[in-house]
Amino acid sequence: MNQYWHLLHGSFGLPQLHGAGGDEGGGLVGLVETFLAAITELLDSSSEWVLLPGIQGLGSNLHPLIVHFPIALLATFFLLELAGLGLRRPVLRQVAAWMLYLGAAGAVVAATAGFLAAAEVPHGGQVHEIMEWHQRLMVTVSVLAVVLALWRSLGGMAVSTMAVGLNLFLATAMMGLMVFGTDLGGLMVYRYGVGVASLQSQEESDQHLHSAVEEPVTRR
Ligand code: HEM
Repeated sequence: MNQYWHLLHGSFGLPQLHGAGGDEGGGLVGLVETFLAAITELLDSSSEWVLLPGIQGLGSNLHPLIVHFPIALLATFFLLELAGLGLRRPVLRQVAAWMLYLGAAGAVVAATAGFLAAAEVPHGGQVHEIMEWHQRLMVTVSVLAVVLALWRSLGGMAVSTMAVGLNLFLATAMMGLMVFGTDLGGLMVYRYGVGVASLQSQEESDQHLHSAVEEPVTRR
């Protein structure tokens, strides 16, 4: 990992890119030399360099990688559905339907990954209860999303006032449960550190000085 940052910030020599190049010669030639040296070092490197260290850090838990898709897609579906109904623009509801189909598929994948994560991540009794509530709420959200998507795709756009009302009621319930359910997901991760390999210590945080890199800006 250190090697990774070393290569990025050390060998690519960011100051040299901006400056005259020092002993290694300035201008374009210096820049090309620095670049080639960095590439050579990268290729020769026997270190554990990884392209996407963040994703690698997740290990086999893909849940955090997937969850953002259904959240964004289902939220967009809801907003477009509201706008389509409010403004009487069927085209908005057609786009909303596609957001719903993709969001429902994403929710099923996220829930599957969630069950795998729950079986894998270490957690204590207090977190277990939060996890069970997260699971209940998010499974309900996923089922609602699939039901709404099937209803749309099989029966077309809801046309009768009653069907539109029921559709809107279920969509609103799905959104509300999603807000509370995903909040519990965040609570597990950001309050209790579930699924986080190594927590930053306060001591380390105190020793890390932003002032070392953040020079006060002097106005002219
Ligand atoms: C549509 C389905 C689901 C969505 C959108 C969702 C969303 C989330 C979110 C936003 C987090 C916080 C992650 C972060 O910020 O890094 C989370 C964490 C978590 N969720 Fe879910 N969840 C879903 C289904 C499930 C299910 C069915 C389970 C089964 C128990 C589950 C188990 C977990 C676990 C164990 C964590 C903490 C560890 C981790 O991030 O992987 N989730 N979820």
